[in-house]
Amino acid sequence: MNAPDNERGIWSSKLGFIMAGAGSAVGLGNIWRFPTIAGQNGGAAFVFVYLLSVILICLAVMIAELALGRHAQRNPVGVYKTLAPGTAWKYLGILGVLTGWGIASFYSVVAGWTLGYVFKTAAGAFINLGPDEIATVFSDFTTNPVLSIGCHAIFMGLTMLILYGGVKGGIERWSKILMPLLLVILVLLVVRSVTLPGAGKGLAFYLKPNWSALTGKSVVAAMGQALFSLSLGMGTMITYGSYLSRKDNLISSAGWVASLDTGIAILAGFAIMPAIFAFDLDPAAGAGLIFVVLPNMFNKIFLGNLFGTGFFVLLSVAAVTSLISIVEVPAAYFIDEWKMSRKKAVTIAGGGAFLAGIPAALSGNFLDWMNVIFGQYSLIIGSLGVAIFVGWQWGASKANAEIMQGNPKFSASTAYAFAIRFMAPVSITALLICLILFPDAF
Ligand code: TRP
Repeated sequence: MNAPDNERGIWSSKLGFIMAGAGSAVGLGNIWRFPTIAGQNGGAAFVFVYLLSVILICLAVMIAELALGRHAQRNPVGVYKTLAPGTAWKYLGILGVLTGWGIASFYSVVAGWTLGYVFKTAAGAFINLGPDEIATVFSDFTTNPVLSIGCHAIFMGLTMLILYGGVKGGIERWSKILMPLLLVILVLLVVRSVTLPGAGKGLAFYLKPNWSALTGKSVVAAMGQALFSLSLGMGTMITYGSYLSRKDNLISSAGWVASLDTGIAILAGFAIMPAIFAFDLDPAAGAGLIFVVLPNMFNKIFLGNLFGTGFFVLLSVAAVTSLISIVEVPAAYFIDEWKMSRKKAVTIAGGGAFLAGIPAALSGNFLDWMNVIFGQYSLIIGSLGVAIFVGWQWGASKANAEIMQGNPKFSASTAYAFAIRFMAPVSITALLICLILFPDAF
């Protein structure tokens, strides 16, 4: 089961994988969605439930995806074709490839807005505008088809340029540059935010565990957000795992990616919450939080334009390293299964996602709808499928044997078998049922 041809790649080191994996996981989900959902669901109480879902459920799924990918050295469809030939499992892989297109399409639209806002903020487009005018700038921008499709095209184009460089020369190289940059900008923003007069109210809102705001819906939101944030359920981690060496330790690699992702999400809350409360803004403002509420705040602080530009650069950087990992899934599928060159595969994968994103660039309702189908249901079904496949079809003992390569002293095989056979499938099924019952939970 070797790489099918020289168009596949491999990470240069464990650090290379950790940077690329964290680059995938850390995205718009961390900096935009996490602080908002945490704020609405009881602050630290939510963070506690979120941590439990990462540790008890998501880590097991992430290790399962990495083990599958590294074992078969294939894209998601190829993995199921190799490990369960002639069965319907390959459709789970096909669902992953389609989900890759689905998520990439709207993710690139929102990422395009963040890129547009880098230039708007840098050019001082919000200076001297009142709150209503700032809201109008956002709606004019997103409903202008030329701007909205143009920014989506530029963002997808940048993503494709990185992907043309390949696994080592493109994905890994850029992740190693952009992830440290992201951390530096984020830390600067946190420092600015927590030193604003009145920041204490926001810190209390974010940090004080308000257990009464934690409802059944919050638990659903925490689990769904954790799956999305860790890039699980569509085969991103299968694909990135397929570029891992057998010498690398899967458990510690997964641990690093999950810790960086969670740490950066929590840190993002420290950048956003104090700022919102210092200016009496609404923490539950959704998409408007980033594109309307925050520009109001940047208007009011010293060097606000600079910090505002930095903030949108941060979001764009986080988004591009995530989008490459989403588009890489269909690209790897074309390289492995259709024997295409990387160039052709990336062109079709990225070009297809661009076309699929045009309706979302034209209509916010359509964008929301794509998010529900692909960003929620598909990922939950995909994660459930991975857990069942690894736990029951391929078998926990084979997964454990794969984990032991690069980690011969691994001693938690019974615990892992329990997590992937029972804990993950049962909780993800419960999540799916709850989401059907409370469709607007997250
Ligand atoms: N995790 C990224 C974020 O938080 C988005 C992402 C990248 C993703 N790859 C994925 C989500 C695969 C689901 C599946 O923004």
